[in-house]
Amino acid sequence: MDTKPSFYITTPIYYVNAEPHLGTAYTTIAADALARYRRMTGHEVFFLTGLDEHGQKIAQAAQAAGMDPQSWVDSIAPKFLDTWRMLEISNDDFIRTTEPRHTRGVQAFWQELYRRGEIYQGHYEGWYCVPDETYWSEEELVDGKCPQCGRDVQFVREDNWFFRLSAYQERLLEFYERREAEGRPFIQPETRRNEVVSFVKGGLKDLSISRTTFSWGVPLPFAPDHVTYVWIDALLNYITALGYGSDDRAKFERFWPADYHFVGKDIIRFHCVIWPAMLMAAGIEPPKTVFAHGFLLAKGEKMSKSKGNVQTPASLVEKFGVDAYRYYFLRDVVFGQDGSISMESMVQRYNGDLANDWGNLVSRLLNMTEKYLGGRTPAAPEHTEEAESELPAIAGALPGRYEAAMQRLDYAAALEATWDLIKAANRYIETQAPWNAAKSGDEVRVAAILYNALEAVRIAALFCAPVMPKTSAEVWRRLGLGDVTAVRDLASEAAWGGLPAGLAVTKGEPLFPRIYEE
Ligand code: MSP
Repeated sequence: MDTKPSFYITTPIYYVNAEPHLGTAYTTIAADALARYRRMTGHEVFFLTGLDEHGQKIAQAAQAAGMDPQSWVDSIAPKFLDTWRMLEISNDDFIRTTEPRHTRGVQAFWQELYRRGEIYQGHYEGWYCVPDETYWSEEELVDGKCPQCGRDVQFVREDNWFFRLSAYQERLLEFYERREAEGRPFIQPETRRNEVVSFVKGGLKDLSISRTTFSWGVPLPFAPDHVTYVWIDALLNYITALGYGSDDRAKFERFWPADYHFVGKDIIRFHCVIWPAMLMAAGIEPPKTVFAHGFLLAKGEKMSKSKGNVQTPASLVEKFGVDAYRYYFLRDVVFGQDGSISMESMVQRYNGDLANDWGNLVSRLLNMTEKYLGGRTPAAPEHTEEAESELPAIAGALPGRYEAAMQRLDYAAALEATWDLIKAANRYIETQAPWNAAKSGDEVRVAAILYNALEAVRIAALFCAPVMPKTSAEVWRRLGLGDVTAVRDLASEAAWGGLPAGLAVTKGEPLFPRIYEE
């Protein structure tokens, strides 16, 4: 029997009207780091990402490219897969909403809402923003434009199916309160929670959830001239990927409700209002937490294709390497807040934290191990003064600090805690100066100092691994240890004194060669 706790984490499924960019990569990297960390803490993780392939916006993008929609989405999907591979994303599944398993699940969901009397036929008249795939009322428009993205809206007049969202106002408010009282708020961070609560208190209208003026979507099982409103279609990916609507419900039973949906702050109403109401209507428990992160800002503006301030993940990975890329966004931007990014700050983080602190520490130690100890890891020191250095204490506090930070999704704090150990190891080498002990022929002392510092490196690499899996794997390989990304019992691996004696270490190229420009 499987006794591992389960952990289900998702990213939004991305629109395939464009290629992956820094914004979509950001959510995906953050989710990946948490998924990797939870695997290391012994959870059975299901990490889902995928693509949102239906709707008017995609149909229009296909048309503009002179392609039929399916060929268009098929041509874009590999670009996402390639980008996620380049960024070392460890997703367990990749769902595309044009897949039969998804269509089947969406149709099963419609049948369920129909059976429960949660939907009815009506007429919609109002505004629609195609880029955001969002309905707006006349009063919500700002100067006649979409209040969200500022672009043109179109007037829609259609006979549609409606979901009784208005009936869920009180139930949603009670639900948010209950989750908060239980100590696991449904909406995080708190600013977003307040925003959603006041929106719901303002009153909810029934929602048009089918469209008839175009056909690129999932047809309603009982009204095939209607296709599913793309947001309803998209949200359902979180359960169709687990087999909802199929005969095999094992994954659904195991992983639902999701532990975390990671989303950008622009799509919280869909995830925090419509989604839990839909699930309640179908008798399904809502997810545990929706966490909304902020926007990456380049020169103070949200990065977007229309603003032309987009850099590609590939160009940054080429310059900095994948791990430095992942590190930068999780270290320099507070997860949950908007964050300014720039080439200058990226170079600074790279040279300071990675090249100087981490990369240098590793190279120096491996060089000294080779030079003074014949390239073999020493045995743990016994009753020497080195055994009483501050390193074991700092390393001992790290698992708890890291876990507490990750509970809050404070990646920056988790990395900072790891850097406390890395910096302490650098200080230790400076103050203990093993080269002096070597000069005076004190081999016992040299071995003791190097043991302590190497052990700090071994442990630091463990805690770097969720964010920088390639470098950590390389550090462990150079130390003669096994595959750090396969660690499943972080707590015991992180215990001080785990470095075996006599391992053959290998020197190598600098992990983060300094960058001299900008
Ligand atoms: N397809 C919908 C999501 C459906 S989920 C059931 C969608 N897709 S998207 O491709 O437009 O955006 C996906 C996510 O990327 C959003 O959460 C959005 O906030 C995020 N980002 C897009 N640009 C961003 C930044 N500049 N910065 C950070 N994240 C931003 O919405």
